[in-house]
Order: sequence, then C-alpha cells, then structure tokens
Amino acid sequence: MASQELIQKLEKTIENIPDFPIPGIQFKDISPIFLNPKLYEEVIEDLVAFSKGKVDAVCGIESRGYLFGIAIAVALEVPFILIRKKGKLPPPVISEKYDLEYGSAEIETREGQIQKGQRILIHDDLLATGGTTEAAAKLVEKQGAKVCQFSFLIGLRGLKGDERLKKFNAGIYHILEY
Ligand code: PRP
Ligand code: MG
Repeated sequence: MASQELIQKLEKTIENIPDFPIPGIQFKDISPIFLNPKLYEEVIEDLVAFSKGKVDAVCGIESRGYLFGIAIAVALEVPFILIRKKGKLPPPVISEKYDLEYGSAEIETREGQIQKGQRILIHDDLLATGGTTEAAAKLVEKQGAKVCQFSFLIGLRGLKGDERLKKFNAGIYHILEY
C-alpha cells in the first residue's frame, strides 16, 4: 500500500487537463513524474512491493504502460513482454481487439514470448473503462499463462474498470484513485 505521503506527492505532480484529447475527457498527464527521478523511484518501489515474489513475467501495455512496467520487471528480475498496438510487432503475433475510452484498437504480442503456465503481472499507467487491460489479459490467457495481478498508477473510479477485470480472479492495485 502506498504511503499517504507518496499519494499526496503524486496528486500534486500529475496534471489534470480538461477536454483532452476530446471534449468531456479529463486527461491525467503523468509526464511531470519523469522530471523528478526520486519520485519516479518511489513509484517503482511501491509497484514492485505489490508484485514481489508473485509473478514470473510482466506484460506492459503500449505506450504509457512501458514507462513504469519495464522498471518493475527489472527490479523483480523477471522478463518484460511488450503488448503493442496493431502493426508494430513483426510476425508471428497474437492479437486481441478492444474498445477504448475514446475509439477502438487492437493489441498484439510476439508469439512465443509468454510461456505456458507463467504467472503474469499486467501493468499499465491507467485503468479507465478497463477495455485495454481486459484485452491484454485475454491475450495473455490465450497463450496458456495466468494473469495473477494487475497494477496501475491510476484507477478512475466510476468507469467500472475493476468490475471488468473481476473475471480474471487476479489482484488489482492502483496507487491513486480519482
Ligand atoms: C490510455 C491509458 C491506458 C488506457 C486506459 O492509453 O494509458 O492504456 O488508455 O483506458 P481503458 O481502461 O478505457 O482501456 P491510450 O490508448 O490513450 O494510449 P497511450 O498509452 O499510448 O498514450
Ligand atoms: Mg495506454
């Protein structure tokens, strides 16, 4: 569990941008975190504490899921697997379509990078509707691995992302909730 101090520092650092990228959406800009290496380190420590000893690999979701995901995997000393948007990874790939908070998309992993039976952490910066993460979890389970944990920097209350992930029976963690 994140300390109140970390939560408050993040709340002060993350910028809220109204009506971006479309009217009615409030964008959470996490980029100021990367201006503060000490704060970044504290975020990684907190996310690592949630997953330590519990997973065999980390899957990060393009693109903002890479910003913390790879550092989590390195700290846990486990492999990191890229989940990318369609058309970016060379074949053979495994794909899954999904709906976004705004628009729709398809995600892919390289075939053979996720091993059968692995316990997987899926990490992304933000849980909104849960569409992206749900598709990522389906992609992982298609390959015979088990999603054991989901972690996020931010969870948006009210969009019911948590409910959408319940069926995977995995731990869900976010440092901040709005
Ligand atoms: C954002 C965010 C999550 C996703 C959350 O990514 O980083 O990945 O949306 O939305 P959901 O829970 O409703 O699916 P986006 O697709 O905007 O791309 P980016 O990470 O490349 O900026
Ligand atoms: Mg994203």
